[in-house]
Amino acid sequence: MEKSGADNSRRIVTIAGCKGGVGKSVIACSIALEMGRLGKDVILVDADLGGANLHTYLGIRSPKYVISDFLSRRLKTIEETVLATDYQGVRLISSAGNVPSQANPKFAQKAKLINSLRSLKADCIVVDIGAGSSYDVMDFFSMTDDGILVTTPEPSSIVNSYGFVKNVLYRKLSLAFRQYSLVTELLKRGMNPDGNDGISSIPDLMAELERVSPECRLKAKEMLSHFIPGIIVNMTASESDLREGEKLKAIINKFLSIEARCIGHVVEDPVLRISAKRMIPFVVFAPDCRATTCVKEIARRLTSATREQVRAAPQDDEQALGSGRSMTAACQ
Ligand SMILES: Nc1ncnc2c1ncn2[C@@H]1O[C@H](COP(=O)(O)OP(=O)(O)OP(=O)(O)O)[C@@H](O)[C@H]1O
Ligand SMILES: [Mg+2]
Repeated sequence: MEKSGADNSRRIVTIAGCKGGVGKSVIACSIALEMGRLGKDVILVDADLGGANLHTYLGIRSPKYVISDFLSRRLKTIEETVLATDYQGVRLISSAGNVPSQANPKFAQKAKLINSLRSLKADCIVVDIGAGSSYDVMDFFSMTDDGILVTTPEPSSIVNSYGFVKNVLYRKLSLAFRQYSLVTELLKRGMNPDGNDGISSIPDLMAELERVSPECRLKAKEMLSHFIPGIIVNMTASESDLREGEKLKAIINKFLSIEARCIGHVVEDPVLRISAKRMIPFVVFAPDCRATTCVKEIARRLTSATREQVRAAPQDDEQALGSGRSMTAACQ
């Protein structure tokens, strides 16, 4: 997310989600396939090191090489782990059958992995990084160019997604300011808003930071301006579900002082479960279904636009918040 998106070459797009089963893998896979169909050279990476299953969505039962072969130095280069698939323009790096010791790689190993991914020759690297707010997931999300959060439209999922972005933001700030004890103290108060001296929002944190160190405040502000998470709402079933992405964006903007971008939505479609059972990607199994149309729109946005253009048209955050007041309270 720190790198300029104007250069779309070897761009790393990470797909995360606040909880299991929201559709991260199926969306990562279908975006990659659609980009491949549009003529891009894509490498799909299964970095869900604890629960890898991307290979099954591509119809591969037992991948020959996996990421841990590289992390444990059995293979010298990341290129050696790249597998061909049956689908145009798409190759895979799998994590199938991961050994437990690789489920929580050290920070240095994650950095090594991300740097290695950057060295791969491809137009786009799409990384499925798994669920939750473990350091593992958060670091992958924030070390790459485009972090996209998959959420479902239920209020609990939206609240959890907000929590994920907040955790990533505090993790980034904590790492950046770990040498500054006064700032670290403030960040602890921000991460514990219900405590005696808790800080409940980033605007409040920034005001405190200005008092403690105007220089650090400037640096933090600069960091906030570069962190622009993307949002995909999956399993939408109604018109109102389509607005949940904008609501999440508005809440993120209000309490975390950062922009987010709504990249699109994918409708709930029974075809997905049928195709998953047959181990055929749904965009191939049902190229004209409604969910495929949604993915085409998402992939088109991601491939044809720079990051700035990918952002949805400016909208009235207050209006988006209007129908989500109770959710706003839940996010404070
Ligand atoms: N839009 C949708 N419509 C219908 N079913 C869907 C949709 N999106 C995902 N599913 C189904 O939900 C299930 C979970 O999807 P998926 O494996 O992509 O989730 P995940 O977030 O990667 O889960 P995990 O956290 O376990 O890795 C799959 O059976 C998938 O087919
Ligand atoms: Mg998954």
